Amino acid sequence: MTGKFISLEGGEGAGKSSAIKVIQNWLEQQGIDYVLTREPGGTPMAEEIRKLVLSTRDEAVAPNTELLLVFASRVQHLSEKILPAMAQGKWVISDRFVDSSYVYQGIARGIDESIIDGLVATFLKGQLPDKTLLLDVPVEIGMRRVQTRGETNRLDGESLLFHEKVRHGFLKRAAQDAARFAVIDASQSIESVEQQIITQLNQLIVEPSA
Ligand SMILES: Nc1ncnc2c1ncn2[C@@H]1O[C@H](COP(=O)(O)OP(=O)(O)OP(=O)(O)O)[C@@H](O)[C@H]1O
Ligand SMILES: [Mg+2]
Repeated sequence: MTGKFISLEGGEGAGKSSAIKVIQNWLEQQGIDYVLTREPGGTPMAEEIRKLVLSTRDEAVAPNTELLLVFASRVQHLSEKILPAMAQGKWVISDRFVDSSYVYQGIARGIDESIIDGLVATFLKGQLPDKTLLLDVPVEIGMRRVQTRGETNRLDGESLLFHEKVRHGFLKRAAQDAARFAVIDASQSIESVEQQIITQLNQLIVEPSA
């Protein structure tokens, strides 16, 4: 039996890392073998690419450069970590996956969706997560959470308009693929968010595999 692949998506400070801890506890309780990972990154080489993508720098970064770097890291991550773990029957929980490219490099930076579709078809063989939990939160709340957390990266520093595009981009993708996405109202309390996530996970183990 192959494992399930779950991705967490959402803007900065939406609560993805917090959600992963909830999922980890649930997996432990179920006795399911799992791998926690993230994008960009997930393997040593892909993590080096992450640093290139996220570090704050004086030089402007062309959207296509950003797109190709995140895809380079994703191809490495999928072939060297995600697919091998799933083949061993493990569940893979990834903090971001391909929807982040459709939203950040596509909708927010303006790269045509068909270009990203082409990369997905060619390099990822169309591999999508079994379930994508979208942590949705108003931009101001997410930004406030990031500020209280401390560390910031190159994307945190983008304009409010950029972050609004990201939020609405994710909601649009979720509406287009409602079977794969579950939208979690992440403006709620940590306890409520946890309950919403567990409801989704419980549904995932009763659903027959695709
Ligand atoms: N539902 C919530 N209510 C209040 N605070 C929250 C909630 N969820 C997360 N937080 C807090 O907000 C901050 C950001 O959360 P978290 O790191 O999980 O977000 P993230 O989506 O992983 O952020 P990033 O995109 O920067 O990685 C943390 O300090 C976390 O404790
Ligand atoms: Mg995080």
